[in-house]
Amino acid sequence: MRFSPVVFLALAGFAAAQDTSISAVKQAFEAANIPSDLSINFDPRFLLEVTLPQPTGHPITLHAGVQLPRDSTAGPPFFSVVGDAGSGPFVVAAVDPDAPTPQMPTSAQIRHLLAPNFSAAFPFAEVHPLVNSTAAISPYRQPTPPAGSDAHRYIFLLFRQPANFNEQTLVTSSTPVQLFNISSFAAATGLGDPIAGTFMLVAPAA
Ligand SMILES: *[C@@H]1O[C@H](CO)[C@@H](O)[C@H](O)[C@H]1NC(C)=O
Ligand SMILES: *[C@@H]1O[C@H](CO)[C@@H](O)[C@H](O)[C@H]1NC(C)=O
Ligand SMILES: *[C@@H]1O[C@H](CO)[C@@H](O)[C@H](O)[C@H]1NC(C)=O
Repeated sequence: MRFSPVVFLALAGFAAAQDTSISAVKQAFEAANIPSDLSINFDPRFLLEVTLPQPTGHPITLHAGVQLPRDSTAGPPFFSVVGDAGSGPFVVAAVDPDAPTPQMPTSAQIRHLLAPNFSAAFPFAEVHPLVNSTAAISPYRQPTPPAGSDAHRYIFLLFRQPANFNEQTLVTSSTPVQLFNISSFAAATGLGDPIAGTFMLVAPAA
């Protein structure tokens, strides 16, 4: 693996252990029942790095299944793809399938992000920061699991963006975020299966 000096320094600055194995991410998704609960086919080809800036100290890069205190999740996150996924464009989505509680997810999925038009920078490095050229359809929403709930899963997925995605009107900036279905949305808009992903667990603030 060859990193540009800039990327290497950036990685060295991230305290948390990010995902390093595609098969470990796939296993973590399966252990958390995510492909089945989201009705997605999750056979990732790349790693998605999701990095949350922190008010003080180093940003946190997710490791699939990591539990974070709500205070660490204000975001907005930034993203990189590890591996040669091409230049894009890509769509990043994040959903909570556990709202209001994992036992009774009557308002799930909550859409926590739906952001198009990301392209991959640093084409000669292994880690490609993703840069968006337009605004998110649904901007990032910080996790807010209600008091008394168990931790929720917040799942980030990376898709290739097909040309006709720009014409989709199923979800716009005024569409309610609850009762979203990433599987049916991806099928209807040609996003297909995710090519990468990761997730975090967040419990109600104490
Ligand atoms: C990229 O996304 C961020 C976060 O959603 C947003 O603040 C920013 O305006 C977007 N960039 C462009 C060029 O729209
Ligand atoms: C993506 O960017 C193109 C070119 O700027 C723009 O026309 C299009 O509306 C954007 N797509 C979405 C889904 O926002
Ligand atoms: C989401 O849509 C898929 C079809 O793509 C369906 O099988 C699944 O039951 C739906 N999930 C929910 C939670 O409604």
